[in-house]
Amino acid sequence: MNLQTKKIVTGKGLRTPALAPLRACRRWLIRQAWSCKQAFGDWYWNGFVEHLAMPSTLRMWLLKRNPRLSIPDGTLVQSGCYFESNPISFGRGVYVNKRVQFYGEAEIRLGENVAVGFDTVFTTTTHLGKFEDHRAAGGEEHPIRIGDGTWIAARVTVLPGTIIGRGCIVAAGAVVRGECQPNGLYAGVPAKRIRDLPTGALARRPGFDSECAVEK
Ligand SMILES: CC(C)(COP(=O)(O)OP(=O)(O)OC[C@H]1O[C@@H](n2cnc3c(N)ncnc32)[C@H](O)[C@@H]1OP(=O)(O)O)[C@@H](O)C(=O)NCCC(=O)NCCS
Repeated sequence: MNLQTKKIVTGKGLRTPALAPLRACRRWLIRQAWSCKQAFGDWYWNGFVEHLAMPSTLRMWLLKRNPRLSIPDGTLVQSGCYFESNPISFGRGVYVNKRVQFYGEAEIRLGENVAVGFDTVFTTTTHLGKFEDHRAAGGEEHPIRIGDGTWIAARVTVLPGTIIGRGCIVAAGAVVRGECQPNGLYAGVPAKRIRDLPTGALARRPGFDSECAVEK
């Protein structure tokens, strides 16, 4: 038995040059299987679980099983949201309205009783912009943190590395970056502190409640 035949018999035959097309085929199949797995995961978590027709109790039950998410009891996530960042963690009483996107690869953390308006986008990813021939080449990730009690209104964009202190309001349509000090109303593009918000009054409602913002 010559060396080449022996390789085939012992299962190491794919190393022989004549079988290069088979090797390429195997690599292609592995790549396709991997991308099918990714696409299926994306469809399952962001298409099926977040479908408009999914009842909210079942959606919350399923979302708690998403390995990227840490969702305690007493939170509510509406339909159409998109979860990509990893990890994403919510405090108790978080409310996320429809079609909110959590985009990127770094951590996004929402504190207790944070409410997020519809169509808001959190992105932890940005590009370096160093290369004249390809501004989007190369990426950077910066985590995002939102403090307890903050209300982010509709269609806000929260940029990478943003830290919003507790008890803030971010007005509709704002683009937020950098650090927002606690208990302030921020609005505009880029978001600026417009005024200080009153402090001292507490809703004291544990968990999500549609009336939790109303002081009794
Ligand atoms: C943030 C918000 C609550 C502020 O309401 P408010 O306390 O009544 O504030 P005012 O209307 O008195 O506005 C105060 C200042 O902020 C400015 N401002 C208010 N909202 C703004 C916004 N979205 N973008 C830019 N500036 C805004 C006003 O023009 C005003 O500026 P001025 O003093 O120079 O005139 C309100 O404007 C808002 O954005 N609501 C969000 C609605 C929403 O998203 N609903 C969906 C909920 S899920």
